Amino acid sequence: MTRDALTRPHGGVLVNRVADVEGRRAGLEAAAKLPAIRLTPFQHSDVVCIATGVFTPLTGFVSRRDYESILDCMRLANGVVWSIPITLAITSEMAKSVGTKPVVALEDPSGRLVATMEIVDRFSYDKQREATAVYRTTDAAHPGVARLYDQADVLLAGAVTLFERPMDEPFAAFRRDPADTRLLFAERGWRRVVGFQTRNPVHRAHEYIQKAALEICDGLLLNPLVGETKSDDISAATRMESYQVLIDNYYPKDRVVLSVFPAAMRYAGPREAIFHAIARKNYGCSHFIVGRDHAGVGNYYGTYDAQKIFDQFAPGDLGITPLFFEHTFFCRSCGGMASTKTCPHDRSSRVTLSGTQVRDMLTKGQIPPPEFTRAEVAQVLIEGMRA
Ligand code: ADX
Repeated sequence: MTRDALTRPHGGVLVNRVADVEGRRAGLEAAAKLPAIRLTPFQHSDVVCIATGVFTPLTGFVSRRDYESILDCMRLANGVVWSIPITLAITSEMAKSVGTKPVVALEDPSGRLVATMEIVDRFSYDKQREATAVYRTTDAAHPGVARLYDQADVLLAGAVTLFERPMDEPFAAFRRDPADTRLLFAERGWRRVVGFQTRNPVHRAHEYIQKAALEICDGLLLNPLVGETKSDDISAATRMESYQVLIDNYYPKDRVVLSVFPAAMRYAGPREAIFHAIARKNYGCSHFIVGRDHAGVGNYYGTYDAQKIFDQFAPGDLGITPLFFEHTFFCRSCGGMASTKTCPHDRSSRVTLSGTQVRDMLTKGQIPPPEFTRAEVAQVLIEGMRA
């Protein structure tokens, strides 16, 4: 099977803005003389995602035209679907020191020079308007909105070139660029690949919907997000351990690829579901799972809003097929995993626990019922919380 048999990247051509050996040497030398912008961890992960093609067709931080178009109609100015504005916010002082320079250097959060950016645009923006469009709320208690309100006031736009990959990358063995996953899927002869986004440990409900999707696909890309998340989410390191123990014990290894999604979490619910689907399309997935309250937080979104938003696009516009799942749970009367679509019994038969309840149990060293979480996974989580 060739890579051409896989879903095409969003917009047609996979972006690669990582400098080759020659370009890197010359680029780093030139960049050392440029004004430098120190990236936050969030911005740094955006630069890496852009450069390695995860955010194809973006080649850089978005211009004002694209920004406006994304907010107003979830498309880039050229009409390609794009739901989340990827922006680089800098302070007015920084903007002054950049002046009219056509290129700036970008430093990682530790101060290491990692990339350059060719500036095409700079503009001010209305944070409340962005909050309403992207997050459907202006409430500063929403973690995505809080971050937006916190960021600086000038947006700098332009293509990036990456010279240095992040240092001491945790999970190095599980880092694959879209070009790598595409090659891997082609080698395995997979044509229909389902992508799964997660920022949580894989509980039985997640496992059930992944395996249900795998019944109709050739392979599963288990693609946990390891970029910045809110502080009360379980750490990426602990989650990665839990995924490995789960795969070792319960997944056929020739049908699953565990590979990290280096992006930061936005908690933008519906709009982020579109964004997540597009990124997985770039990794080579033909299908993408959207379950209950995908990428949601608190009560800001309806349980199925992140599914309904897909109705706004024609299938060809997105180029990846969403697979929608109802809220799933273990039903004691059915004796198995089920959903409101497949189970006739009432709530009293269901094994459901809230995130807070699970966290409380794990903190106390208690293993949740096996109908909710595999014991091997719970053990890893308990140890992770003790560390
Ligand atoms: S998310 O922020 O990454 O969406 P999470 O890791 O909990 O959070 O969810 C990963 C995926 O599984 C999402 O598509 C979500 O909708 C889905 N999901 C999580 N729990 C359930 C459940 N009980 N029933 C159906 N889908 C679920």
